[in-house]
Formats: sequence, C-alpha cells, structure tokens
Amino acid sequence: MEQATRTEPSKYPASMRALHWLRAVIVIGTLSVGLLMVNLPDDLPAKFELLYPNHKQFGVLALLLSLAALLVRSRSRVPEPPSALAPWERLLSTFTHRAFYVLLIVVPLMGYSMSSTFTQSDGVPFFFFGQLPELLPKNDHWFEVFQLLHRILAYALLVLLVLHVAGALKHRFLDKHADADALRRML
Ligand code: HEM
Ligand code: HEM
Repeated sequence: MEQATRTEPSKYPASMRALHWLRAVIVIGTLSVGLLMVNLPDDLPAKFELLYPNHKQFGVLALLLSLAALLVRSRSRVPEPPSALAPWERLLSTFTHRAFYVLLIVVPLMGYSMSSTFTQSDGVPFFFFGQLPELLPKNDHWFEVFQLLHRILAYALLVLLVLHVAGALKHRFLDKHADADALRRML
C-alpha cells in the first residue's frame, strides 16, 4: 500500500525547475534574436556572421532541452494544478504547457528544415560539434513552406509565452488564495 502513503509534492523536482529556467532563458533569447535579425539590413556583417548562426545553434539546443524535459517529466512526480484555480484556468494552463512542449519541438525542426532546404544556406552550426548534417535535400519551394511555418509557429510561441507569464503573475499577485501561486512551485 505504498501508494496510499505518498504525499503530493509541493514543488516541481529540482531537475525540472533547472530545465524550466534554462529553457526559458534560451527560448526567450532565441525568439528575440530571431525577431531582431530578420529586420536588420543584409549588409550588416553581424547579421549573418553572428546572429543567424547563434539563433540556429541555440534553437537546436532548445529542441534538445525540450526532449530532455519531456524525458525527465515522464520519470518525475509533479504537483497537481493548484486546487484554488478555476476550472477554466486549469484547462488554459494545461493547454499552454502541452502546446509549449509541442511547439518547442516543431519550431526548431521547421527552422532546421528551412536551413537544410535553402540552396544558399550556410548550414546549421552546433557549438563544438561543428556543422550538423543537412536534414533534407535542397529545394527552394520547400524552403519557403518551412520558412512560413517556422515564422507562424514562432509567433504562436510568443503568444503562448505572454499568456504563460501573465498567468504566473496573475496567480502570484492578483489571486487572493495563497494556494493559487504556481510560481513558488517552480522556484
Ligand atoms: C526555440 C527555437 C526557435 C525559435 C523560438 C525561433 C524563432 C524565430 C523567429 C521569431 C524568427 C523570425 C521570423 C520572422 O519574423 O520572419 C526566426 C527566424 C529564423 N529562424 Fe528561428 N527559431 C528557433 C529555432 C531555429 C532553428 C533551430 C533554426 C535552424 C536550425 C532556425 C532558423 C531560422 C532562420 C534561418 C530564420 C530567418 C528566416 C528568414 O531569414 O526569413 N530557427 N526564428
Ligand atoms: C519560453 C519560456 C518558457 C517556457 C517554454 C515555459 C514552459 C513551461 C512548461 C512547459 C511548464 C509546465 C511544466 C510541466 O508541468 O511539465 C511551465 C510551468 C511553469 N512556468 Fe514556465 N515557461 C517559460 C517561461 C516562464 C516564465 C518567464 C515564468 C515566470 C513568470 C514561468 C513560470 C512558470 C510557472 C510558475 C510554472 C508552473 C505552473 C504550475 O505549477 O502549474 N515560465 N513552464
């Protein structure tokens, strides 16, 4: 009867908390650099020498960390959603968390596919591993499809992020019930 004596964890496990904040920093950085770099003039050397390669390698890192987070989550006991949340808040937060996991795999994969199919791409670097292999054959039509998907889904990720942070701040600062504060479970 070991199951019956287990108490609900009050926080996410340390491994999940560490992965969450590492991922948050990397994803927010990659997203911001992506939005910035596409709006810079092509003759600015830093655009293709610094920003594009770093956007790509940190984007691939975000993908790997998301896979690691899924693996760690499948082996961890995580707290139930705070009981003080209204049913619609539980639904919205569960949807947002699941959508994060999906988008943080699909967005980098679309970026990688875009870089692979583009005939004039400089490839995808990955820190000390050097250039990663091309995922797909060169094809500028497919490049345009992946470019559009990467852009639309990255914007969807941005919307989710705003919603997620707004939710965390609302539960911490506006909700009357102390149990609604989800942030302390992630700190
Ligand atoms: C979490 C991961 C990622 C996020 C959040 C992200 C986000 C973005 C955003 C917001 C843009 C600007 C879109 C626009 O306004 O046109 C962008 C552009 C771009 N991303 Fe990513 N990205 C990620 C991963 C990757 C990866 C892994 C690669 C390639 C390996 C990549 C390659 C590119 C390229 C080449 C562009 C420029 C597209 C163009 O010049 O039109 N991204 N990304
Ligand atoms: C792009 C950046 C971020 C991503 C991708 C992200 C992703 C996630 C995901 C997937 C979860 C669910 C964990 C699980 O149950 O498996 C989560 C939980 C959480 N996140 Fe974030 N997050 C980001 C940024 C932030 C920021 C900036 C804050 C703080 C304001 C924050 C606060 C929280 C809190 C409080 C929880 C726990 C929710 C609960 O207990 O139900 N996150 N995050």
